[in-house]
Amino acid sequence: MKQAKPVFVCQECGVQRPKWQGKCDDCGAWSSFVEERPFEGAMGGPTTHRYAMPGTQTPGAKKYAEIEASRADRITTGIGEFDRVLGGGVVPGSLVLLGGEPGIGKSTLLLQAAATMARSGARAVYISGEEATGQVRLRASRLGLADAPLQLAAATSVRDILTTLGDSAPPALLVVDSIQTMHSDLIEGAPGTVSQVRASAFELIRYAKENGVALVLVGHVTKDGTIAGPRVLEHMVDVVMSFEGERSHQYRILRALKNRFGAVDEIGVFAMEGQGLAEVPNPSMLFLSGREQPIPGSSVFPALEGTRPVLVEIQALIVRLQSGATPRRAVVGWDSGRLAMLLAVLEARCGLNLSSAEVYLNVAGGYRLADPAADLAVAAALVSAIADKPLPLRSIWFGEVSLSGEIRPVAHAGLRLREAAKLGFDLGHGPDDGTLKTGEMRYSGLSSLPKLVDRIMATA
Ligand code: TYD
Ligand code: MG
Repeated sequence: MKQAKPVFVCQECGVQRPKWQGKCDDCGAWSSFVEERPFEGAMGGPTTHRYAMPGTQTPGAKKYAEIEASRADRITTGIGEFDRVLGGGVVPGSLVLLGGEPGIGKSTLLLQAAATMARSGARAVYISGEEATGQVRLRASRLGLADAPLQLAAATSVRDILTTLGDSAPPALLVVDSIQTMHSDLIEGAPGTVSQVRASAFELIRYAKENGVALVLVGHVTKDGTIAGPRVLEHMVDVVMSFEGERSHQYRILRALKNRFGAVDEIGVFAMEGQGLAEVPNPSMLFLSGREQPIPGSSVFPALEGTRPVLVEIQALIVRLQSGATPRRAVVGWDSGRLAMLLAVLEARCGLNLSSAEVYLNVAGGYRLADPAADLAVAAALVSAIADKPLPLRSIWFGEVSLSGEIRPVAHAGLRLREAAKLGFDLGHGPDDGTLKTGEMRYSGLSSLPKLVDRIMATA
């Protein structure tokens, strides 16, 4: 193979440059460039590599109907929450990238899924590049899955893995944990670099596609939440999932960030327990924990992170000042200008007197809200604090408030309601919208801020 010229690759976003640079002009990362030998297989470069030998026949095009039919036979993993996020089970020949912070439970989840599948008769192979087979087996027995006919291997060389797999019939499911530990001898470079990740994934993906194997690749993410390194794989795979949660907390949320075979607004909820990950089919506890008692000044807002809904708690505290001192307004996690506007609207349109009140607003969990639909949830928290009346525990609030006090429609109301319903909430408050599909949620439309104030003041 002819040696390609070295290139410099940003380890954050995968962009390639002919010269080293201190700052990536594409993603803005600093000191992220590493010299690598380019891998041409995935890039459609010169046809000197082994995947596109001159004269190789390209596979014939398939009829759309044939492809659709083959995609339809999904295999359930036996883990309902995982299947749900996949869109109803794994699709043979599909590629899934599971990202998450180290220690969040990716290996546990996939070991449980692979073992459960193996138990129900499908051939499943789990390859660990991070742990020895003994360690994985120990974990499996701790999870009560020691009897599952799951094939385990510890390997980091993609060539070894593919050679071993080639000796027998292809499995239904292949888990590679993690892609950052894999090494392809097609190119130079240490495991975990963008070129290695891309080359290793390319070889594994090629095997999976050719043999109708569902391939799940694990990718560790960096602190900022992006799937660095593996992020360059996002366009090569069918499903991108992220496994999230606080390591110190029990709950984990599995989200589809991209899914060619299902909806991206699906989430799966798990609890990390002594016996591994337990499914949480009704996870209302998750966001109500610490909120078992209804408290005045607390509301729940279904925020949207791009297309991802996240439920966040908004807390307001009102302190009446006796003296004539200037009252403080402090905000954490929301725009202070927006709070000032909302307070002005509450005074001008709803007749509430806030001029002598100190107002504190906090978005729980260190979350930062930028979504204008939070107006109504903030207003609800404020009014609840002013009236000293708690809002219904399982209710959510969303809508944009105009200067006239009207409550305006916001994007993705249906998505917000579905997410909240999934998390055990049963009452939505939002803009008056007759066309809104509210699913299993009760919905209460509010046309203006004075109506909101009347509603909260009227509660017992
Ligand atoms: P792991 O699946 O190894 O995380 P990842 O592959 O994402 O790095 O999860 C490891 C953590 O999960 C570890 O801190 C211990 C915890 N854990 C349990 O609490 N119970 C269990 O039964 C298992 C297997 C792990
Ligand atoms: Mg792991």
